[in-house]
Amino acid sequence: MKNRINRRNFIKTASLAGAGLTLLPNAAMALNTNSIKAAAKVRIAFIGVGLRGRNHVSNISKNPDAEIVAFADISAEAIAEAQKIINKDGRAKATEFSSGPTDYLKLLKMPNIDGVIISTPWEWHAKMAVDTMKAGKYAGVEVSAATTLEQCWDLVDTYEATGIPCMILENVCYGRQELALLNMVKKGVFGEVVHARCGYLHDLRGIKFNNGVEYGPKSFSEAQWRTNYSEKVNADVYPTHGLGPIALALDINRGNRFLSITSSATKSRGLHEYIVEHPKGGENHPNADINWNLGDVVTTTIKTSRGETIIVTHDTNTPRPYSLGFKLQGTNGLIEFDGLESGGIKQPDGSYLNTDRVYVEGKTEPHEWESAAKWFKEYDHPLWAKFEAEAKNTGHGGIDFFVAKEFVDSIKEKREPELDVYDAAAWSAVTPLSEMSIQEGGEPQFFPDFTRGKWMNRKSVDIL
Ligand SMILES: NC(=O)c1ccc[n+]([C@@H]2O[C@H](COP(=O)([O-])OP(=O)(O)OC[C@H]3O[C@@H](n4cnc5c(N)ncnc54)[C@H](O)[C@@H]3O)[C@@H](O)[C@H]2O)c1
Repeated sequence: MKNRINRRNFIKTASLAGAGLTLLPNAAMALNTNSIKAAAKVRIAFIGVGLRGRNHVSNISKNPDAEIVAFADISAEAIAEAQKIINKDGRAKATEFSSGPTDYLKLLKMPNIDGVIISTPWEWHAKMAVDTMKAGKYAGVEVSAATTLEQCWDLVDTYEATGIPCMILENVCYGRQELALLNMVKKGVFGEVVHARCGYLHDLRGIKFNNGVEYGPKSFSEAQWRTNYSEKVNADVYPTHGLGPIALALDINRGNRFLSITSSATKSRGLHEYIVEHPKGGENHPNADINWNLGDVVTTTIKTSRGETIIVTHDTNTPRPYSLGFKLQGTNGLIEFDGLESGGIKQPDGSYLNTDRVYVEGKTEPHEWESAAKWFKEYDHPLWAKFEAEAKNTGHGGIDFFVAKEFVDSIKEKREPELDVYDAAAWSAVTPLSEMSIQEGGEPQFFPDFTRGKWMNRKSVDIL
C-alpha cells in the first residue's frame, strides 16, 4: 500500500512554533483535498522554466491527465520557450509571471493549481517548496531540495503543518537499472546489504562555463548560478542522483536512517586548468585568478542505523565520461555498474563493451564476474515493462517521464508521492553536513532525524 496522507498524524512540535508555523485547521486541509478532487485533470504550474523546467513542461504536456496552468520565471524568454512547447502540443497558453524573483508568489495565489514543479537554482528550492505547500499545492522540487539543514527542517515542518506533500524530483530513482537494482535487493539476491557506493561523476566543466570561460552574469543557464557553488562551497553539492536509488534500496527513512557522515575533499585543479587551457581563456583571463573552493573529488562516507556504509563521490571538475559509480555489496554477492544504462567501453567497430557486473555466491561461477545484463533483464521493473514506449523518447533515457508521471499520479490519487519530504530532507542534508565535515578535517557529523522517530515504522517505498 502506498502511504496515504494521514491528516490526523500532523505533529505539533516546538520546532514548528519556532519556524513560525501554525497548524492549519482540518477544514482548511479538507478544502485543499476537495479542490484537487473537483478537477477533471491535475492542474500543474511551473516555477523556473530554464533547461530543466522546460524538460518537465514537455513531459507534463504529453500527459493526458494534466493541464498546464501557469509559468513563473524571471526570464520572459524562458517563458516564451515554454509556451512554444505547449503550443506545439495544442494546449492553451499558460498564464505568465515574469516580474522579478518573487513574482512566483502571485502564481501560488491562483486557485486553479493543484501542483507546482520547481526547477530554479538551488538557493530557491526550499523557499519555493515551502511557499507552495503553504499555498495548499503539492510541491515537486528539483534536486537537491535544500542547501542548509535549516531549509531541510523548513520543508519537513511545513509539510507536517500543512499536510501538503513535497516530492523530491529525483529522476535517477526511476532508471531502468536502478529500479532493477531495487527489485534485486528486495528479492534478496545479494543477501543482507552491508555496503554501497554511488556518486555523481560528471564532467561539468563545459556547463560550469559558457561563452568561453564565463560564469555568473556574463553566461547563461547553470553557469549563471551553479558555478558560484564551486567558487564558494567545498562540499558534495549534488548528492541525490547517486544517493536516491541507494537510499531506496536501503530503506532509508523506512526502517533505516542515515546516522553519521564524514567527508574529505581533494585539492581543486580542474576548473583553473580548464580556464587556462581554453582557447577563449588563458593565464591572463580574469577568471584564471579565481581560487576555487570545491575540491575536484569530494568523498563522503555515510553510516546507517542498520550498520551499512555508503561511499558517495562528487566529481564534476575533471575530464571523464559520465558515471553514477554504483556498487552494492551484500552477504551473498555484489553488483557494480555505472548507472543510467551507460553504454560501457566503446570498441573500434563502434559497438560498446558493457562492463556492468554481478557476483552472486552459488549462482555465478566462483571468483568470476558475470555480465549484469542478464540480471537486469530478469529483474526488470514492472513499471518499465509497462511504460517503455512512452518513456523512451523523454529526457535522460526515460527517467524524466516516470518522475513527472509520479508527481501527477500522486496528486490525482491524493496520496503521498513515492519520494517524499523526508527523502528530500535526508538526501539534501548531505550537502551541509559534508561541508561541515570537510571544514573540521573529516570529523563525523550527525544527521538530524527528520522523521522524528517515524522512520522506525514507515513502510518501504512501493515503487515495486
Ligand atoms: N534531475 C535532473 O536530471 C536535472 C537536470 C538538470 C538540472 N536539474 C536541476 O534543475 C534545476 C534547474 O536547472 P536548469 O539546468 O534548468 O538551470 P537553468 O539556469 O537553465 O534554469 C533555471 C531557471 O530558473 C529561473 N529562475 C531563477 N530564479 C528565479 C526566480 N526567483 N523565480 C522564477 N524563476 C527563476 C531562471 O531564469 C532559469 O530560467 C537545478 O536545481 C538543477 O540542479 C536537474
